[in-house]
Amino acid sequence: MERTFLAIKPDGVQRGLVGEIIGRFEAKGFTLVGLKLIIANQELAEKHYDIHKERPFFKDLVSFITSGPLVAMVWEGDGVVASARRIIGATNPLTAEPGTIRGDFAVSIGRNIIHGSDAIETAQREISLWFPETELANWELTIKPWLVE
Ligand code: RTP
Ligand code: MG
Repeated sequence: MERTFLAIKPDGVQRGLVGEIIGRFEAKGFTLVGLKLIIANQELAEKHYDIHKERPFFKDLVSFITSGPLVAMVWEGDGVVASARRIIGATNPLTAEPGTIRGDFAVSIGRNIIHGSDAIETAQREISLWFPETELANWELTIKPWLVE
């Protein structure tokens, strides 16, 4: 089953949006299989954003992401990787569509509230980086027949 890694960044936690954001993915019909609130250390943050290590914003990005607690999550469902990216919205919140998380709650690219894996392979890498297998629950929603034909 397809899984993605999402993280409510320290700005989303500080702004009290944890419940609102988790609620959107629950209401959509995806399954939460991993969840924890942690303050990421430098090493974890650098590994997570390794792809951006040559970019001018890398230092600020790592310092921001380690600046306070974030909510790390794994969500499961057919097509969840691409669908979660659409629910999250464009990287720059000012161009993110209304109705998306970034479109509804943010105004600045460096404070865009939530991270979502950008591809299935990225999701697999990020999930194993943030969660040991023992912290992921293999379970099925009892209402699944009402969600999936
Ligand atoms: P994310 O990885 O956090 O889900 O965001 P994303 O895929 O939409 O965007 P990405 O290109 O992967 O960039 C990662 C994060 O770096 C910050 N950023 N700042 N100042 C800038 O030009 C700039 N560009 C990117 C954003 O916080 C972005 O979410
Ligand atoms: Mg990204």
